[in-house]
Amino acid sequence: MVVKIKNLFKYFDTAPAVNGVSLDIRQGERLVILGHSGCGKTTLLRMIAGFVVPDKGSITIDGLLAAKDGKSVIEPENRQIGMVFQDLALWPHMSVYKNLEFGLAAKKISKNERNERISLILEKVQLSEFSNSFPSNLSGGQQQRVALARAIVMRPKILLMDEPLSNLDYDLNSMLRKEILKLQEETGITMLYVTHDRNEAFSLATRIIVMKHGAIQKIGSVNEIKMFFKY
Ligand SMILES: Nc1ncnc2c1ncn2[C@@H]1O[C@H](COP(=O)(O)OP(=O)(O)OP(=O)(O)O)[C@@H](O)[C@H]1O
Ligand SMILES: [Mg+2]
Repeated sequence: MVVKIKNLFKYFDTAPAVNGVSLDIRQGERLVILGHSGCGKTTLLRMIAGFVVPDKGSITIDGLLAAKDGKSVIEPENRQIGMVFQDLALWPHMSVYKNLEFGLAAKKISKNERNERISLILEKVQLSEFSNSFPSNLSGGQQQRVALARAIVMRPKILLMDEPLSNLDYDLNSMLRKEILKLQEETGITMLYVTHDRNEAFSLATRIIVMKHGAIQKIGSVNEIKMFFKY
């Protein structure tokens, strides 16, 4: 078990954004959280990554308590979690290479190893020749791949992806979906992927969680969730 979440709550001003969520993320799975806009998906992901502290409940990562009842125990930079944000959040003033190198340098990884890891991942996402380009000179799909590479190059225990393809047109979306699937199968990385798009969920997931109003409505295999929606 990679992540164990018990009875998690997060309140903002009015109704709870996350309302008593319990779930396990298993080693090597592609778990997809499916739900409408505003149902609490990003808030849940940000709590797992450590950017938002839960008001109640606990998060355990690889057997270690990461957060509990309003307190963060492990800081985000020490959780070994990679995140691809809804808005990508690439650093515009840094080249592709520098975007990937930043986190590795912060972890005091040697220059040689940084080089090796970055070359390898850029090859995998087919961006080797864009190493010195800046994000603003890349297409939407290329920027998406940089964000993905930047998360994976850190070799996280788990990769969180927050609607990473929602701003792309249909063709690019399905192409990148296939690439994500291939990359996950090749690396075996544990993935938690958030989307409001049923087709995206069905094509990517090994298991799906349906969220509604901050709570889990249903957990099941792709086929079980298809039946749930009478798809
Ligand atoms: N920092 C914040 N301050 C106040 N309210 C917030 C904050 N972040 C989220 N919320 C509220 O919490 C609820 C859940 O938001 P969240 O961003 O988690 O939803 P989401 O499922 O990711 O939606 P989307 O699909 O649109 O990205 C919403 O009602 C939102 O308005
Ligand atoms: Mg969101």
